[in-house]
Amino acid sequence: MKLAVLGCGYVGLVSGTCLAALGHHVVAVDVDASRVKSLSEGHVPIYEPGLSELIQAEVKNGRLRFTTDAESAIKDSQTIFIAVGTPPSPAGGADLSMLFAAAETVAKAANGPKTLVIKSTVPPGTGSKVVDRVKNAPHRIEVVNNPEFLREGTAIQDFMQPDRIVFGANTNAGLDVLREIYQPLIDRGFAIFSMNRQSAELTKFAANAMLAMRISFVNELSLLAQSMGADIESVRIGIGTDKRIGPGFLKAGVGYGGSCFPKDVAALVHELKQIGVEPFLFAGVEKVNTRQKEWFAKRVINAVKDVPNAQVAVWGLAFKSDTDDMREAPSIDIIKQLAAAGLKIKAYDPQGTANAKKLLPPQVQYCASVAECTTGADAVAIITDWPEFITQDWAAIAKLMRGKHVFDGRNCLASGKVAAVGLHYYAVGRPEVTAGAGRQGSIGVVSAG
Ligand SMILES: NC(=O)c1ccc[n+]([C@@H]2O[C@H](COP(=O)([O-])OP(=O)(O)OC[C@H]3O[C@@H](n4cnc5c(N)ncnc54)[C@H](O)[C@@H]3O)[C@@H](O)[C@H]2O)c1
Repeated sequence: MKLAVLGCGYVGLVSGTCLAALGHHVVAVDVDASRVKSLSEGHVPIYEPGLSELIQAEVKNGRLRFTTDAESAIKDSQTIFIAVGTPPSPAGGADLSMLFAAAETVAKAANGPKTLVIKSTVPPGTGSKVVDRVKNAPHRIEVVNNPEFLREGTAIQDFMQPDRIVFGANTNAGLDVLREIYQPLIDRGFAIFSMNRQSAELTKFAANAMLAMRISFVNELSLLAQSMGADIESVRIGIGTDKRIGPGFLKAGVGYGGSCFPKDVAALVHELKQIGVEPFLFAGVEKVNTRQKEWFAKRVINAVKDVPNAQVAVWGLAFKSDTDDMREAPSIDIIKQLAAAGLKIKAYDPQGTANAKKLLPPQVQYCASVAECTTGADAVAIITDWPEFITQDWAAIAKLMRGKHVFDGRNCLASGKVAAVGLHYYAVGRPEVTAGAGRQGSIGVVSAG
């Protein structure tokens, strides 16, 4: 099928490219001319493993191209996906202005019946508002919802091998178009769930809220574990092996971030307030997340506050590993607190530095390697669990440091390795390991007996 995708960000680029890889002819559109120019020249403006290679292959075989010319792209396509941003609005809800503008562009350009697929994450009821905006178009525009569940860092695999695909349509015609588009994945046995549009919209919000809630759940519990000598890593395995609970998203750390969880939980809080319901649970999820970042920063500050010209090496800035995305990254709030306490901050991230520079306080010094970042540090603070941090030679790290404090904000290190070289290891919700103690327990290892 001939498809247009409006929006060449993380979701639009990945879904457009993967839809081309499934055999469709895709024209990907963005209003950002420099983004389209660089994509047309073969440069991918975001870091997503495997994406650059797949784009190259699909452009080469003629199934994928990029343009700023939305009108021609829409005229030339039977179905138009909208994958533009839906950022938080100042009032706390989702800012749908870009989505509505894109829908109006579709209505204006339509030269025949079209299907408009909302791929962006939108509050329940948005589809009906889009229907209102396109109802006066000269041709019928069928509005359906197809939420995207990909995770940055594993986005291609998530799109091509999804846990499920959700179709939200209020007519059979809309459903049939979605089925035709996804037929290659249906044929490979991936599960499809069809529901009405409002349910599909709410399903996406519910998924993000549930994941954020699990993170806040384990983070709140980690504070209790920390205070009483329990190990939250053992506890999470102890509960996660219960089939009713499951193991995912129960890792204690510095709090959730990224472009989805914070904004979608905030939007849910807003939507509930709009209907007069006090959002006790989701507001609590947010509060716990804020406190977790503050708690982590305070621990680092306390450890070095009496050291003259104290210097902290921050390892990891992106909101998670395997992405350059800095939107709502926990590192932002944590570093702001460290900077406000007067600490000198050196930071290293394998991919996120360019985006971080736009968001972090000016006094942060950016480094090109772990070694450069760590030289002279009184404390190391790990905020993102990039694989290269986990495999460091801790004897070499200890030699580079001036002080002895290692804060593992992602519980990603083997505490024994760090302590064995004379460093003091602090994790989240786990007993501290003093220098030289060499506790053997590494993450995820609990005795069965
Ligand atoms: N990033 C994720 O991991 C993820 C996962 C699932 C769902 N989502 C949702 O998908 C949506 C997009 O997220 P993203 O991270 O890809 O955003 P993004 O900001 O990376 O990309 C959006 C792109 O849309 C472009 N754009 C804006 N208006 C346009 C228009 N009228 N026509 C064409 N292009 C236009 C922007 O220039 C930008 O390049 C959001 O609703 C988000 O919540 C994101």
